Amino acid sequence: MPLNPRIDEWKGRRVWLVGASTGIGRATAARLHAAGARVAVSARSAAVLEAFAREHPGSLALPLDATDRSAMHAATAQLLQAWGGLDLVVYCAGTYKPMRATEFELDVALQHQQVNYVGALYLLDAVLPVLQRQKAGHLSLVSSVAGYRGLPKSLAYGPTKAALINLAETLHLDLSPLGIGVSVINPGFVETPLTAQNEFHMPALITPEEAAVAIVKGWAAGDFEIHFPKRFTRMVKLLKYLPDSAYFWLARKGTGL
Ligand SMILES: NC(=O)c1ccc[n+]([C@@H]2O[C@H](COP(=O)([O-])OP(=O)(O)OC[C@H]3O[C@@H](n4cnc5c(N)ncnc54)[C@H](OP(=O)(O)O)[C@@H]3O)[C@@H](O)[C@H]2O)c1
Repeated sequence: MPLNPRIDEWKGRRVWLVGASTGIGRATAARLHAAGARVAVSARSAAVLEAFAREHPGSLALPLDATDRSAMHAATAQLLQAWGGLDLVVYCAGTYKPMRATEFELDVALQHQQVNYVGALYLLDAVLPVLQRQKAGHLSLVSSVAGYRGLPKSLAYGPTKAALINLAETLHLDLSPLGIGVSVINPGFVETPLTAQNEFHMPALITPEEAAVAIVKGWAAGDFEIHFPKRFTRMVKLLKYLPDSAYFWLARKGTGL
């Protein structure tokens, strides 16, 4: 039984992706455009977004900083004027810097909170009234398997992703009865600028295009949690159910801490 209305026909669908200049967001925007959707891409890098719009005729570049509340409202208004409504809104903006408690940097932690979590709240503030008026549409938040449990070097990043998973679950409780779909996207390792800094071996690493295929498949299935690649994420999910003592032992051992 699907937890959301399935989205399997993309022709003419109005899709806005925030955090789509590179990586998973960009690949997903390109895939949806190829399937016939009308796509709007947002991020800070205006020139990159404009190049995307040129390469994908009919798409819109809406540069913004997701931590700017009024910019999010202005972009929403612009889209409503152009399209009259929204069928799918995806928050994929994210930042990641490894951090340990022994090298705590408050400003970096707050920056993660602003981009990864508060930006999603700003997006909600702008689009929830639209989706509720429509009594239709779908909202997706890109979180991470790093949100399941505390992970080494994830002091700034992990808590923001845990918050997004909780936020998506709570949104689903309230919005599903109104006919609005809500999903959370939890990728494993994807080869993007965000993970380029990782010096360790990333198991089951996939391309952004493969991530986009999995995401589109999840929307078509009406999944609430869209996680991939399954060969990796199924294993990480098991860690959620381990007793704390076993989890801490494994997490330390597995990462050489
Ligand atoms: N790659 C992975 O292995 C992986 C795994 C799990 C989850 N994720 C999540 O997937 C999402 C996409 O990440 P990615 O891997 O595709 O990395 P990415 O290529 O670095 O993409 C991040 C996107 O967020 C945008 N962004 C960053 N700060 C922003 C801001 N203040 N305002 C607006 N846009 C902003 C970036 O564009 P600008 O710099 O142009 O603003 C870029 O488009 C993130 O939420 C990430 O946490 C990634």
